[in-house]
Amino acid sequence: MALWSGRFTDSVSEFTQRFGASLPVDRAMYVQDIAGSKAHARMLSAQGIISSQDAQQIEEGLDRIQRQIEEGEFTFDINDEDIHMSIEKRLIADIGEAGARLHTGRSRNDQVATDTRLFAKERCLHLMRANVQLRRVLTTQARAHADVMLPGYTHLQHAQPVLLAHHLLAYAWMLARDFTRLQAAYDAADVCPLGSAALAGTTYPLDRRATAAELGFSGVTQNSLDAVSDRDFLLDLLYACSVCSMHLSRLAEEVVLWSSSEFGFITLSDAFSTGSSIMPQKKNPDFAELVRGKTGRVVGDLVALLVTMKALPLAYNKDLQEDKEGAIDAARTLEDCLVCMAGMVETMTVNPRAMADQAGKGHLAATDVADYLAKRGLPFRRAHEVVGHLVLLCEQRGCDLADLSLADFQAESPLFEDDIVRELDLQAIVAARTSEGGTAPGAVAAQMVLVEQRLSSD
Ligand code: ARG
Repeated sequence: MALWSGRFTDSVSEFTQRFGASLPVDRAMYVQDIAGSKAHARMLSAQGIISSQDAQQIEEGLDRIQRQIEEGEFTFDINDEDIHMSIEKRLIADIGEAGARLHTGRSRNDQVATDTRLFAKERCLHLMRANVQLRRVLTTQARAHADVMLPGYTHLQHAQPVLLAHHLLAYAWMLARDFTRLQAAYDAADVCPLGSAALAGTTYPLDRRATAAELGFSGVTQNSLDAVSDRDFLLDLLYACSVCSMHLSRLAEEVVLWSSSEFGFITLSDAFSTGSSIMPQKKNPDFAELVRGKTGRVVGDLVALLVTMKALPLAYNKDLQEDKEGAIDAARTLEDCLVCMAGMVETMTVNPRAMADQAGKGHLAATDVADYLAKRGLPFRRAHEVVGHLVLLCEQRGCDLADLSLADFQAESPLFEDDIVRELDLQAIVAARTSEGGTAPGAVAAQMVLVEQRLSSD
C-alpha cells in the first residue's frame, strides 16, 4: 500500500505504478534524501514538534537504511514510487510511530526540491574538479611545447602561423569560462526550499534556517510556490554542462583531425585509441569521437527540461519528476568526457615536424607581405591585391611565397627590397604578433601566467 493511499479504495495497475515511478532514477539521490530527513527530524525536535527520543530513533533508523543501501541489502520496490517513499516506508516499518512523525510539516514537494538541489551542488563540485584537471593538462602540454608552431586556420584553411601553446590555451580559456558557469549553477542551487511544504508553507513553527544551515545551504527560498516548482538551478547546471560539452566536442574534433594521416599533428596513445575488427591497420580516435557524439545528448538534456518547464502552472506538477533523468545523465556524461579528454591530451604525442611542414604550406606569410607594402606607403587594399597576384603565381608554379625570388616580388611592386625575406620567416611572423592576447612567445608566456593564476584560484 502506498503511503498516500488513505483516500483510495481501488489500487492502481501494475502498469501505472511503474509508469508513475521515479525510483529507478532518483534512487541515486538516497544520500541527499537521508541527509535532508535527518536535518528535518533534528529541527522538528529542537522546535519541540517531535520528541528528542523520536528524533533519535529516526536518525538511527535512517543511518541503518543508508548502510543497507550502501551494502546492497536494501530491496527497492517500484511500488514505492520514489526514493522518498522507499526510505520513509522502510523507516516506518523499522521503527513504527517515530518514523511516521518524520513527515510532519514537510511534503515530498519541498523534499524533492531540497534533495535535487543538494545533488546538483555536489555534481557541480565534481565537474569543477574535473574541469580544473583538464585545464592543468592543457597548460602542461602548452608549456612542454612552448616553441612548437603550426598553421592557424580560419575556414579550416591555412591562415597565419600560431604557437601550439596558444592554440591549446584557447581551450583553457573556454574551460575557465565553463568553470564560472558551473560556479553560477552551484550558487543557483544553494538555497534551501525545505519548509515550503506542499506549496503554501506550513502551520508548524519550523526553523527553516536551521535545516538550511545544517544541510550546507547559504540561504532559504522566499516564496513557497516558487520554491517547490523552481528548477532553474537544474537548467543552469544543464546549460553549463552543454556549453562545456560543446567546448570538449570542438577539442575532440581537432583531435580527430590532427590524428588523421592527412594532418599527422598528433599521435594518440594506444590507451585512447581502438582498432578495427576487419582492417588490421586501423587506429581509430574512438574516444574523441565519443566525446564529440555525447555532446548531442547533453544538449538534448538541456532542451528537454526547458520544454518540460515551459507551460507549467504553479506550483508542483508531476511533470517535474522528469527533471532528474536528464540532469543526472548530463552531469555524469560531462564528467566522464572531461576525464577522458584529460587522459587523451596528457598522453598524446605532439609531432612538431608535421606541424612545421604544414605551416610552410599555404602562403601563411601573405598577410605580413601585404603589411610590408602597406608600411611602405601602399594603401592596404592595393597591397592585398599585389600579394594576391604573387600567391596566384605561386599556385601556378606549385611553390610557396618563400620560394619566390626578389625579382618575382619586384615584378609585382617596386616597393619590395631584399629585406622582404625577413617577412617570409614564419618564426618572425609569430614573434611579431605581440599584441596582448596575441601569439608571440612573450604574449603567450604572459597569457600562461594568467591561465595558471586562474587555475590556482579555481
Ligand atoms: N517523485 C516525485 C518527483 O520526483 C516526488 C514529488 C512527488 N510529489 C507529489 N506531489 N506527487 O518529483
